[in-house]
Amino acid sequence: IRRGFSSSAVRNVVIKQVTIIGGGQMGAGIAQVAASTGHSVTLVDTSDDILKKSIKTIEGSLKRVVKKKFADKPEAGEEFIQKVLKNVSTSTDVGSAVQGSDLVLEAIVENLKIKQDLFSRLDKLAPAHTIFASNTSSLPISDISSATNRLDRFGGLHFFNPVPMMKLVEDTPGFIVNRLFVPYLYEAIRLYERGHGSKEDIDIAMKLGVGYPMGPFELSDYIGLDTIKFIMDGWREMDPDNTLFAPSELMDKLVAEGKLGKKTGEGFYKYK
Ligand code: CAA
Ligand code: NAD
Repeated sequence: IRRGFSSSAVRNVVIKQVTIIGGGQMGAGIAQVAASTGHSVTLVDTSDDILKKSIKTIEGSLKRVVKKKFADKPEAGEEFIQKVLKNVSTSTDVGSAVQGSDLVLEAIVENLKIKQDLFSRLDKLAPAHTIFASNTSSLPISDISSATNRLDRFGGLHFFNPVPMMKLVEDTPGFIVNRLFVPYLYEAIRLYERGHGSKEDIDIAMKLGVGYPMGPFELSDYIGLDTIKFIMDGWREMDPDNTLFAPSELMDKLVAEGKLGKKTGEGFYKYK
C-alpha cells in the first residue's frame, strides 16, 4: 500500500474531489468528514431513498458536532452545517460520479467479489489520475486491487465507526485493530452460546471491567452483524484451522434472519 501511495504517479496529486461509493454508516461518515475538511464530495449508492437517508445521517451527526464545537455560537454552527452539506452531492450513477474525481473511496458490502466487480468497472470509467481506496475491514487490498490496472494508485483507508468521532485511519497491511478486535467479539458471542453469562452481563462486565464504552454485543449491533460475519467467514476461508476464526451458530442465524443490528432495528438487541 505504502509503495503504491508513494509512487511518482500519485505523489503530486492534490485531493479536491472525492467520490464515496456506498452511503451506509461508514460511507455517510466518511463523506461527512471529507466535506467538513473542505473537499467536494459525491456520495454514491444504489437508490435515491438510501442516499436521502445518508444525508439525514450526516445532518444529524453534524448537529452533534456543532453542539460542541460552536456551543456559544449557534449561528456560526448552522452556517458550518450548511457549508458542509453544500459540499456533498449524491448520485446513483457511478460513471458520472467518478468524472473529475481525485479519490474514489469504496465503502460497500464486505465481499471480495462485489468489491472487485465495482473496481473493475470503475477502472474503466474513472480518469487516469484518480486514486482508488477501499474502506474494507478485513480483505487484503492486493486482492481487491487485482481487478484493476492501477496498482500504483490503489490503497486501503480503513476508518472506524462512528467516523466523525474515531480518530484512527489505518493503511497498514493486515489491519491491526480488527485482527484483535473481531476475534474478541466472536469469543464474547461464543461465551454467551456456552451459557457463561447473559448478553447484558457480558456487556456490563466489559464496560465496567476494562472501561470500554460499549460491550461486545452492543458494539456488534452498532457495527453490523453482516459485516462482522463477512470478516470472520473470509478469514476462516484463508485459515480454516485457526480456532480464533471458529463460527458462531447464533451469529449465522441472526444474519440469515436479516437481524443485522442497529441498522435493521434488531440484532442481539432490539432498537424499536
Ligand atoms: N457523529 C457525531 N458525534 C457523535 C456521533 C456521531 N455519529 N456519535 C457520538 N457522537 C458524539 C456525541 O454527540 C457525544 O458528544 P458529547 O460528548 O459532546 O456530548 C459523544 O460523541 C458521546 O456520545 P454519547 O453521549 O451519545 O454516547 P457515548 O458516550 O456512548 O459515545 C460512542 C458514543 C462515541 C459511539 C462510544 O460509545 C464509543 O466510542 N463506542 C465504541 C465505538 C467503537 O469501538 N468503534 C470501533 C468499531 S470497530 C470499527 O469501526 C472497525 C471495523 O472495521 C469493524
Ligand atoms: P452498510 O451496510 O451500512 O452500507 C453499505 C452501503 O453500500 C449500503 O447503503 C448499500 O446500499 C451500498 N452498496 C452496496 N453495494 C453497492 C454498490 N455496488 N454500489 C453502490 N453502493 C452499494 O455497511 P458499512 O457498515 O457502511 O460498511 C461498509 C464497508 O466499510 C464494508 O467494507 C465494511 O467492512 C467496512 N467497515 C465497516 C465498519 C463498521 O463498523 N460498520 C468499520 C470499518 C469498515
